[in-house]
Amino acid sequence: MPPVVHPPAAAPLTYGSYLRLGELLALQTPLTHSRHEPVFIAVHQCIEILWKAAVHLNDRALADLAARRLDGVPRALAQVCGIIDETTATSKLLEGLTPLDFAEFRDALGSASGAQSQQYHLLEKQSGFSRVGHDATVPTLRAAFLGLLVDEGITAAAHWAPSIGLQSAPVDCGPIAALLPLYRDPALTRAARIADALFDYDNALANFRWHHYQLVQRLIGSAPGTAGTRGLDYLAQTLRLRLFPELTALRAGLVQGATR
Ligand code: HEM
Repeated sequence: MPPVVHPPAAAPLTYGSYLRLGELLALQTPLTHSRHEPVFIAVHQCIEILWKAAVHLNDRALADLAARRLDGVPRALAQVCGIIDETTATSKLLEGLTPLDFAEFRDALGSASGAQSQQYHLLEKQSGFSRVGHDATVPTLRAAFLGLLVDEGITAAAHWAPSIGLQSAPVDCGPIAALLPLYRDPALTRAARIADALFDYDNALANFRWHHYQLVQRLIGSAPGTAGTRGLDYLAQTLRLRLFPELTALRAGLVQGATR
């Protein structure tokens, strides 16, 4: 059993004291009288808490991958996917607002924007997406997966980019041929299950980005964002982003019977 982190409280625990609901529920402080702002705040806060949980679970998955404790990794990644899917569903609650509803309090946000979300950027970084070039000091799912492939005999993976950026080149046929054994060699089944989980993970983040794009389109159309970006144009840059493009290329190889 994991060690106890906090000493037992003097008073018996209750639902509210355990979850610290007094503090948590005091943290919603709308800046306007708009009846839509409390929902806007609740949605963002819920998502930030869920992203924090996803980052925590990713840390565990990364540690297990590094120690080659592979059996639990697909389940841990599936949990993270479930969390990311939940953030997508939660963000859709804002589809209940009209542009006029949002306009009631948007000006009060000033330059505050989801683009400043540290949890989201942590999640991106952990996944292997980097906007500023590869940082070898941060363990990422992408780098850990490539390391696993190399250990499993797919040595070409040592030459694949350890992180993905906005300008990453499309994957050529090389990775396809090198990766084919992943789904063809029964000795690689465990690594293949992890590849499946990472493909789902990639999809979950892509779904979030796509639904967010649609939400922005619904609520502000082509207006600039509060962070000063070109809004939809800025967000469109990541719509086709794949953290593991080789796993997409591999699928083409499998259905086209690539042998190179
Ligand atoms: C009224 C609903 C929303 C609108 C109109 C909106 C609008 C935008 C816009 C225009 C941007 C681009 C940056 C900027 O100039 O501000 C952005 C970025 C972002 N938003 Fe939202 N957003 C909404 C809801 C959400 C929700 C619910 C979340 C989740 C907590 C979220 C998280 C983010 C993140 C993480 C980015 C950065 C994305 C990136 O840099 O690729 N947004 N948002």
